[in-house]
Amino acid sequence: MVLGWTYKNRRPWLDLENPDCEITLVLNCDSKTAQNISVVDRQGNIIPSNIRTDARATTPLFFLAKMIGRPRTRITLDFRFPQAEPVVISLANGRKPLLALLPNIICPEFLFNLKRWIEHAHCPEGISNFVETGTLFGHTTLYASYWFKRVFTVELSDGLFKSAQVNLRDRPNVTCVHGNSAKKIPEIIPNLTGTSLLFLDAHWSGDKSTDWGGSGWAGYPHDTARLPDTDLDEANRQLPLMQELEAISALHKGAAFVLIDDWPNLGRKNFGFADEDWSNLTQSMITDWFDANPRTKFHQRTDTKRYLWALN
Ligand SMILES: C[S@@+](CC[C@H](N)C(=O)[O-])C[C@H]1O[C@@H](n2cnc3c(N)ncnc32)[C@H](O)[C@@H]1O
Repeated sequence: MVLGWTYKNRRPWLDLENPDCEITLVLNCDSKTAQNISVVDRQGNIIPSNIRTDARATTPLFFLAKMIGRPRTRITLDFRFPQAEPVVISLANGRKPLLALLPNIICPEFLFNLKRWIEHAHCPEGISNFVETGTLFGHTTLYASYWFKRVFTVELSDGLFKSAQVNLRDRPNVTCVHGNSAKKIPEIIPNLTGTSLLFLDAHWSGDKSTDWGGSGWAGYPHDTARLPDTDLDEANRQLPLMQELEAISALHKGAAFVLIDDWPNLGRKNFGFADEDWSNLTQSMITDWFDANPRTKFHQRTDTKRYLWALN
């Protein structure tokens, strides 16, 4: 039985630009059985891999499992992932599949659920526009392009913007916009017709200057951007949220729903990774601003990570 696995460098995903992969698995078996493990491609061919097994009882759980005669073995497999193809980790020379690893993109289920709830409870005519700030790899954008009529996504990083343009070129309803969302949102939203859902997710998420060793999170497999303006303080270089909210309030014509991502990060510094800085805003500064804003219909938390503001 497979108990768990992780990719190299604490990443929960495969880095396709560097498909050399190291996976650590914990199996509920002895080390002899574990020696028979192999990695198999789509056609059933065994992919060369380097296998290391460790059945030492280094944790209380391993010790207990050994005591009751159900030993656990930690296995580290090094292999080269075939580009964008699944692999199967198997026993018995590839004949007994244990688990399939698929280089996948993350489905933003929270967005789909929120859209359905808003449309059911507040907007039976449907939400037409989706506007995202912070494109990153365009994963959310891609899904959104199937769920909304028109999709806009804004990215500050040159490299991420260019690759999003390529990756999303087959989605005719997506417009990729390059630049600072604080400046681009005022250009996009006055032209929108119908109800919009705006997903505010633009913020610096680290780059090669970041000390990843000391952080619980390993960072994205690409540098992300922050504003280069040295006259701004660090938090204002990293988080354009307040300008985005002000522009939406002033310029969005009809009803809109604004989802703020990473809500618990507000007011904090050096939390997700070294030098991350959201100290320019706090949760209460924003909720007070919502309360004082005549356009506010309601505002509430949607889950542990996100906050929703509905405007008339
Ligand atoms: C957390 S990621 C976005 C994730 C993406 N929305 C998703 O769901 O997959 C944040 C992104 O915001 C970008 N960014 C940072 N500051 C920005 C700004 N002022 N304007 C636009 N994008 C910005 C970063 O380069 C990074 O790609």
